[in-house]
Amino acid sequence: MVEHLIQAAYFVTALLFILGLKRMSRPHTARSGIVWAGAAMGIAVLVTLLSPGLHNFGLMIAAIVVGGALAWISGRKVPMTAMPQMVAIYNGMGGGAAGAIAAVELLRGQIESTGLIALAVIGGLIGAIAFSGSMVAFAKLQGLISERPMVFPLQQVVNFIVLGASVVLGVMLLTTSDNVTFIAAFFVATLLFGILMTLPIGGADMPVVISLYNALTGMAVAFEGFALGNAAMIVAGTVVGAAGTLLTQLMARAMNRPLSNVLFSGFGQESAAAAGEVKGSMKAIEIDDAAIMMGYANKVIIVPGYGMAMAQAQHKVYELMKQLEERGVTVKFAIHPVAGRMPGHMNVLLAEAGVPYEKLFDLEEINAEFQTAGVSIVIGANDVVNPAAKTSPGSPIFGMPILDVEASENVLVIKRGKGKGFAGIENELFYRDNTRMVYGDAQGVVNDLVQALKKL
Ligand code: TAP
Repeated sequence: MVEHLIQAAYFVTALLFILGLKRMSRPHTARSGIVWAGAAMGIAVLVTLLSPGLHNFGLMIAAIVVGGALAWISGRKVPMTAMPQMVAIYNGMGGGAAGAIAAVELLRGQIESTGLIALAVIGGLIGAIAFSGSMVAFAKLQGLISERPMVFPLQQVVNFIVLGASVVLGVMLLTTSDNVTFIAAFFVATLLFGILMTLPIGGADMPVVISLYNALTGMAVAFEGFALGNAAMIVAGTVVGAAGTLLTQLMARAMNRPLSNVLFSGFGQESAAAAGEVKGSMKAIEIDDAAIMMGYANKVIIVPGYGMAMAQAQHKVYELMKQLEERGVTVKFAIHPVAGRMPGHMNVLLAEAGVPYEKLFDLEEINAEFQTAGVSIVIGANDVVNPAAKTSPGSPIFGMPILDVEASENVLVIKRGKGKGFAGIENELFYRDNTRMVYGDAQGVVNDLVQALKKL
């Protein structure tokens, strides 16, 4: 009877996970989607505690209380800019948990068939890689170790040998699954591989890597679900695995780089060398003149980028939108799929500041509109508006779809100086005749623009 109730509860859990994920795909239902999925997780944990034959309740409750409290506190405190590393560490924990389940189950030696042992081993392998890889991603993004790609001679060969050793040890576990030495060696090799695989990847590529590890964590949990015969783990893991895989592909495609290039190219280590030569000069404009240009335009398209996030300028950008609208100017936001450093980075920040979702337009929706805009204002964006993506076949971003800001009548660019974007290359847009630079930190400059507009 209890067993049937538990299975029924897992079924409800699975439904809630799927519905929650569905709700997360629209900005205005995303928050409730997270609550639904969180509730599903809560039910799954509670119901699992009711399973017959469990003991060590004290330890389990203590782990839930400590883990839950740490997650609650850190979740409330984390600034928006630190969200990628927060996701990395939480996600890594999931992979680690899957790996730990595999280790415990192998040690207990009670998995019934070789097929199920194989699933536990595969889950352990993937989970351990996702765990140690995510920890390196966290350390890079948190500034605990250098963000730069760490490369050394014969790196790929060493990585291949360590991966090969993990696989061989995994296969050996199929016949001697409860051999402590083999289990320990297997996990040392897999954890090492996760570290080695992540070290050569640059900090700015970490969101893609984190998304990949997220997918791996999901798969690892699903495999362990099969080994344990736990339906909730199978469904939750599969859903996370599929969503993470799609997101990883989406990000790589939006950057026009195959995943193999993200993982194995050491992208970012030669940024200075990749910088091209651009003729002409960048022309500055005074705040008051920039305000006049915008205040009398028919339409202003705002293009936010990583610099807006760094400057935490989103609230001032909202005020700018309000000021312009009060003057009768049409204001739209152009959102590039990889603007910033994580998926939806700009959408989240602008939504937090109160910008209505209807004013945010994707690249395909807005690109044709730049031609009819009096002013496009680029706020801390660089690569996502770089025409080299269309004109320079040798450029690292060649082929990446970009926002066609250069088609507008006037382009204003807010940035602090001559700093390059993530790809480390020059941007010819800044030198064009119809482009004017407004130098300074995005928050300060946008604030000055708002004040100047008020005086018009
Ligand atoms: P970037 O190309 O990185 O350019 C950001 C610009 O902001 C810099 O040129 C910098 O110039 C300026 N900036 C920095 N801090 C600023 C501040 N406080 N105030 C004003 N300006 C500031 O940004 P983007 O155009 O958003 O492009 C994103 C890049 O990241 C793409 O190449 C993309 O492929 C990559 N990427 C994105 C993701 C996701 S999922 N979003 C994941 C991995 C990689 P100054 O130093 O002169 O100020």
